[in-house]
Amino acid sequence: MAKSRKSIKTIGIMTGGGDCPGLNAVVRAVTKTAINEHHLSVVAIYDGFLGLIEKRMQTLQWEDVSNILTQGGTILGTSNKANPMKYPVRIQGRDVIMDVRDQCVQNAAEVGIDAIIAIGGDGTMSGAAGLVEKGIPFMGVPKTIDNDLWGTEVTFGFNTAVVTATDALDKVHTTASSHHRVMIVEVMGRYAGWIALHAGVASGSDLILIPEIPYTLSSVCDCVVKRSRHGKRFSIITVAEGAKEKGGKMTVSRRIKNSPDPIRLGGIANKLAFDIEKKTKLECRSVILGHVQRGGPPSAFDRTLATSFGYYAIEQLMAGKRNRLVVRKRGELSTVPLSEVANKIRTIDPNHSLIQAARAVGTCFGDE
Ligand code: F6P
Repeated sequence: MAKSRKSIKTIGIMTGGGDCPGLNAVVRAVTKTAINEHHLSVVAIYDGFLGLIEKRMQTLQWEDVSNILTQGGTILGTSNKANPMKYPVRIQGRDVIMDVRDQCVQNAAEVGIDAIIAIGGDGTMSGAAGLVEKGIPFMGVPKTIDNDLWGTEVTFGFNTAVVTATDALDKVHTTASSHHRVMIVEVMGRYAGWIALHAGVASGSDLILIPEIPYTLSSVCDCVVKRSRHGKRFSIITVAEGAKEKGGKMTVSRRIKNSPDPIRLGGIANKLAFDIEKKTKLECRSVILGHVQRGGPPSAFDRTLATSFGYYAIEQLMAGKRNRLVVRKRGELSTVPLSEVANKIRTIDPNHSLIQAARAVGTCFGDE
């Protein structure tokens, strides 16, 4: 395996963690820039770190990345279970958790990989930081619909998820108003409320509930009851999957064995519908958007962001930068050390300007 300052002739490319719209746009930008501008070989690593661990890799040609700019998902496949530092190996009929980083280094060296571009969120960047310690040079590209990656003001995939969620909320609006109901729409985002805040504001939701501002049931109910007293016979609530009652806990839908973050959130909308209906006697319905938010073609914004991220990642590697994450700050691209972002997330400041604007136009956050 090359040491970090050896010149780069072959790069590996992988997508890790949950998929999101725009992954293929980055794969295309990286591969085409690498071939076109720098005459490099590009090796696809399949299914995130799994491909590196199991040595499933193949050279990518220009044609392989043609016509994928607008496609959702990832042609490389992904996994949010494989962590090279904690990988389950079957020994004598039972799973033993092992550090398989040396195996990754050997596999990468055998196919001639000099550096890897890892497109992913915090789990992928933490895994990459672990492999950097073993001598594999990395450049990270920030992906996630959750927009919660530390160090960057935006990740690609987020905008598309917000557009999808807003479209769903607009549709729910008409049925809520026809039936005079309280409709509660749950969006993803893990421990951060970025999707809920943006889609909630964009759709004119009456309440927005996010993990960063724990709610009280009485405040939520007051808000919908006040609306009905003022002749508004329906309410729309956008709730982040990580939202929780003051003093309460987040709603967990399942636990995934061997995942770097085994907790999967989900179900808070159902609980809210039950609680609000019981307390107010207003008819409630819940909608959980789920993985719809991760699917479909990327928005124009995400296509351009993903293309600029992918191009910049290669340019930075070729300029000698190593073990960093491409970020956008105040609209400008730059990089930050991977070690700085690993194991951290970016949540919303409760005094964020968009929260202030939403409150100013009458949106309730369940804390008044
Ligand atoms: O991180 C992206 C995300 O979609 C989160 O918003 C959500 O909590 C989680 O992944 C769902 O994970 P899975 O695809 O394993 O159900």
